[in-house]
Amino acid sequence: MIDTTIIDIQTTQESRLAETNFDELIFGRTFADHMFVMDYKEGKWQKPTIRSFQNMSMSPASSVIHYGQSIFEGMKAFKNENGKFGLFRPDMNVKRLNKSAERMCMPKVPEDIFMEALTTLVKLDKDWIPKGEYSSLYIRPFLFATDEYIGVKASDNYRFMIFTSPVNAYYAKPVNVKVERHYTRAARGGTGFAKAAGNYGGSLYPARLANQQGYDQLLWTDSKEHKFIEESGTMNVMFVIDGKLLTPSLSDSILDGITRRSVLELVRDWGMEVEERRISVEEVLKAAEENRLQEAFGCGTAATIAHIASIADDEKVYDLPAIETREISQRLQSYFIDLKKFRIEDKHNWMLDLS
Ligand code: PLP
Ligand code: COI
Repeated sequence: MIDTTIIDIQTTQESRLAETNFDELIFGRTFADHMFVMDYKEGKWQKPTIRSFQNMSMSPASSVIHYGQSIFEGMKAFKNENGKFGLFRPDMNVKRLNKSAERMCMPKVPEDIFMEALTTLVKLDKDWIPKGEYSSLYIRPFLFATDEYIGVKASDNYRFMIFTSPVNAYYAKPVNVKVERHYTRAARGGTGFAKAAGNYGGSLYPARLANQQGYDQLLWTDSKEHKFIEESGTMNVMFVIDGKLLTPSLSDSILDGITRRSVLELVRDWGMEVEERRISVEEVLKAAEENRLQEAFGCGTAATIAHIASIADDEKVYDLPAIETREISQRLQSYFIDLKKFRIEDKHNWMLDLS
């Protein structure tokens, strides 16, 4: 076994920090100075390294390109006005990456190496963590197959990497969603619960059609009947109906979101009734028609809490209540910002302080 606590670090000679305009960041287009790389060969993880963020060369026969053994995570580091910085529930991302790895027939990344890599990289590039109220350093851990082989089989070789990207808010305004009654993001028995790259690839065409019709995102429904709500784009989805918080129960076609889990824990703490169960589109739209649908929002790492302004189904558009009236999602939004900026007591021990 290699001594994984020793990461071979070569810091960059040409930092891009000074020339980066943090006021004009486009989500996912700017990358911090360094990246973490660790290869898996001959059944073992190899020496972990940190290098400057750079291109890499790959064989055209790399199996990830052909058969899609590729998984990723998304998490964020936050910094407050006093320079204190840290990560939100990184332990959950580590576990989820390994659940995805198992489903995709890939080796697990040892949790201690992942945490060492993550914390070392974020500390090294701490000056890249923006301080703005809605800003953070988005962190992208990912694992992919590197065999030079085009036979269809699980690869023997892999690469695990992490790079980071300073970001501002993902959605600038509340989103208009459309119920998807034809295409499917994930089917029963498939890979929807895993953060597998292919899930995203398959969702792009239906999402493009919805964009062309003027919607921001899709509200995915179950693959069998297209009757039950699953999630929305890159977010889990929640509804407040008659004072209760409703969200689709987890299944193998829904991503087990860390924001989703955190929201459920919080609202339960606040004494609110929560139902995790199958939720039909009809139930939500009927509630909207009868003015009982008080709030609808998506939740996810990139999107945080994203208000849903309207839901369209079969050309009929249901406009939801004004954002100012949405007590739960507003309260969640402020709670998460205050927690991530270390302004309130961290009752659940969700923040990992790195400063
Ligand atoms: N669902 C999908 C498909 C996602 O890509 C994400 C984003 O990570 C989520 C839900 C929300 O998960 P999390 O809160 O862990 O970011
Ligand atoms: C995240 O919220 O971390 C996601 O994975 C969404 C992303 C695909 C931008």
